[in-house]
Amino acid sequence: MALQKVTIKDILDKKKKGEKIVTITSYDYSFAKIVDQSNIDLILVGDSLSMVMLGYKNTLSVTMDEMIHHTKAVSRGVSNALIVGDMPFLSYKINQTDAVINAGRFIQEGGAEAVKVEGGTEICPTIKAMISADIQVMGHIGLTPQAIYEFGGFLVQGKTIETAKKLILDAKNLEESGVFSIVLESIPWQIAKLITSSVDVPTIGIGAGVYCDGQILVIHDMLGIFTDFKPKFLKYYSNIGESIRHALNDYKDEIINGIYPDQEHSYEFPQQGLNKINKWIENVDICEEAHKLI
Ligand code: KIV
Repeated sequence: MALQKVTIKDILDKKKKGEKIVTITSYDYSFAKIVDQSNIDLILVGDSLSMVMLGYKNTLSVTMDEMIHHTKAVSRGVSNALIVGDMPFLSYKINQTDAVINAGRFIQEGGAEAVKVEGGTEICPTIKAMISADIQVMGHIGLTPQAIYEFGGFLVQGKTIETAKKLILDAKNLEESGVFSIVLESIPWQIAKLITSSVDVPTIGIGAGVYCDGQILVIHDMLGIFTDFKPKFLKYYSNIGESIRHALNDYKDEIINGIYPDQEHSYEFPQQGLNKINKWIENVDICEEAHKLI
């Protein structure tokens, strides 16, 4: 039975009903289609694609155009999940006008239903401007990877009383500015729990413990495809990277040993016609015949 498209109201209702929200990233048509068939609530086209799809060392390199390109591909594969486009570095912090225009591209060109921005209280006026333009926004606090040079690396945030209090206040201000959910990344679970009970909008954790209203992981991480580094919170649910390596070794062996392609994977020409072609080859000069076509 075809499911209905997940809406922002559905995501909000899940928190009210105490139901967990299941979300994951995707960056292309084929993965997004599999994710969607698994009835995941929300797909984030994360700027993590900078690393896991494009091979950059962090998320700062991916551009608006690249994000839109991948968001379009995801949209083509998704019928049910809510699609959120992740606004890349410098696309929303220079001025509000550019921020709204760039957010609008995710909706208009990319086919997303909402955007995500990184930042706390300082980003609230921009979020309000987006919402005034009818663009729905997801917040993201804690370890916001676009600020790694400020943090000094991919480091756990909110570990002191002052920084933990700031995260709680940021979450309150994000809620007040109208976000429909907040990603909490790499913060102690007790602080994530406090934030989750302080706001009415759902919290979506990644490295923020079990008390968040939902969870998100980078799909290439949890499937064991991207293994450049493994944060403590990451759980491997599969080892697809290893399966791919096995498959490629088999493929290589079979080609080298003339096993692939066998009859089953080859097209057949009728024997009668083949006899005629062989006779023709015997009786003409192939070079001459070929030159006649030029
Ligand atoms: O870019 C991303 O994938 C993200 C999630 C990890 C939350 O921001």
